[in-house]
Amino acid sequence: MCGIVGYVGSRPAAPILLEALKRLEYRGYDSAGMATVFQKLVVRKDRGRIADIARRLKLAEMPGNLGLGHTRWATHGEPSRVNAHPHLDNSKKIAVVHNGIIENYSELRKFLQSQGYRFASETDTEVVPNLISYFLRQGKSLERSVREAARRLKGSFALAIVSVEEPDRVIAVRQDSPLIIGLGNGEVFLASDIPAMLQHTKRVLVLENGEMAVLTPERVVIKKINSGAAVEREPMTVNWTAEMAEKGGYPHFTLKEIHQQPEAVRDTLLAPEEELKKLARFLLGARRVYFVACGTSYHAALVAKYALAKLAELPVEVMISSEFGEVGSLDDKTAVLAITQSGETADTLKAVASAKAAGAKVACLTNVVGSSITRMSDLICYTYAGPEISVVATKTFAAQVAYLLRLAINLAKLRGRSGSKHNKLTAELKELPDVMREVLAKVDPQVKKLAGRLLPANDIYLIGRGVGYPLVLEGALKIKEITYIHSEGMPAGELKHGTLAQIEEGTPVIAVVTPGEMRLKMVSNVEEVKARGARVIAIADNGKDLREHVDELISIPHTEELFSPLLFIIPLQLLAYYITVGKGQDPDRPRSLAKSVTVE
Ligand code: F6R
Repeated sequence: MCGIVGYVGSRPAAPILLEALKRLEYRGYDSAGMATVFQKLVVRKDRGRIADIARRLKLAEMPGNLGLGHTRWATHGEPSRVNAHPHLDNSKKIAVVHNGIIENYSELRKFLQSQGYRFASETDTEVVPNLISYFLRQGKSLERSVREAARRLKGSFALAIVSVEEPDRVIAVRQDSPLIIGLGNGEVFLASDIPAMLQHTKRVLVLENGEMAVLTPERVVIKKINSGAAVEREPMTVNWTAEMAEKGGYPHFTLKEIHQQPEAVRDTLLAPEEELKKLARFLLGARRVYFVACGTSYHAALVAKYALAKLAELPVEVMISSEFGEVGSLDDKTAVLAITQSGETADTLKAVASAKAAGAKVACLTNVVGSSITRMSDLICYTYAGPEISVVATKTFAAQVAYLLRLAINLAKLRGRSGSKHNKLTAELKELPDVMREVLAKVDPQVKKLAGRLLPANDIYLIGRGVGYPLVLEGALKIKEITYIHSEGMPAGELKHGTLAQIEEGTPVIAVVTPGEMRLKMVSNVEEVKARGARVIAIADNGKDLREHVDELISIPHTEELFSPLLFIIPLQLLAYYITVGKGQDPDRPRSLAKSVTVE
């Protein structure tokens, strides 16, 4: 939530900052702004989308070889010009951009007001430049003043700071919000996320909690905020390419990423065997196993719950991260697997912190190298989906499911549960990327037409059983978050316990009829909603038997029941995408949402 960028070097800073901001727009997009230093502080900012603001305020033409920028997802104060970042101190010599929340801002604001400082915005951020100025007035250097100010801030923050008094440096501060430093030749980049700087460098330094860094063109000096002690850190090289963060001929990142799923699954299935074995042993060594995750990652965890139960007879408690503290019972015999594509989701980081505090062991499955979750985990596992730019998670879901299915097969083998089935399942899993490609090609045109017919819908219900249940939760999430149509996914067996009352003449119901023992029961549920007048769209394993009974049939090639989520999710994602585009909305940037939810 919120993206921040910085640059110091010998090239004009503004075009570099602007380009980086555009690449970070998925982190927030209600307002944006930039500050550069050229004899004085040049600041331009406004409410709205970056591209519009850039045109109106000529952001790319701002002078100077050093600066910072921000794209906002409002927390304190409505989206407006005055609340947009950068924020300045009263003397207009210091500019600050901030991602996160300063929890003690009202206390600090009162203190600064008592010292004669005035505030223009409603944000928590504005206390920061003024607090820095307060220490500068005491004759301290910029670096020292930033350190003193950072020590007094409570909450989560990633900050970038520039000052006209020391126009050769950008200072970065990190506490619980991500910040990456990119190393170029005689230039240094700063951003909340790696994709923002891939065009320029793949050599990065990840700033850790409680650290600050002074960025000058030739040097980066990292220090501990509390003690001021210098920190030595070797840069790491990321293997993502700049093209991975481009649309590559697709009209939207969402569509590109849906179509990249076969590759995301293929690459993730090549994850090191040793890592999987370690994770399998980690889970088997525990008395109790929890998976914690949010949103789409939670749905991937639910798919894994079915696979682990059926293949390996391993019971797993799957918890939404923000609820974990309420009911998780933890001790040193507990294993927690945190599933988070970004590795930065505050609710999941919090769940992990509480698990660790209780002595539990933590593993993570993430898509982002060096993300916060990796620094909190005893065991780190990666999916290989490449950078996901669209706010909605698609290919990272497929990658998580693929990884966890492989884990289930490994666990089954370790526990001696799958017998000879193990090799057959492994072989079938390897073929899935090709089948996914087939499904994409086959269902895309059909779903596009169907989406047109669903444009006027007010509600869309989804029903499924077994692994079909997490699938319909995920399908409903995709539909509601980008189309804005109310959508609900539920176990088909639950319909009769209440929701059936909602089904009337013409109500769209998507029945996800996955293969397996539950299939026949699903067919009965289709009849049940049909009898109430529902307009039934069946996404079915083969489904010839259903053709006469439903209004629309999307037929999926037969696969092993537990693998079916990787195929069945495709039409659901495409449906959400095409309805959204049909309504003239932007699927990459749904209203009120942001990728990397770094607030609780
Ligand atoms: C939905 C979506 C969110 C995320 C959730 C968790 O399309 O993207 O529901 O899945 O915010 O994010 P991660 O996996 O980064 O922890």
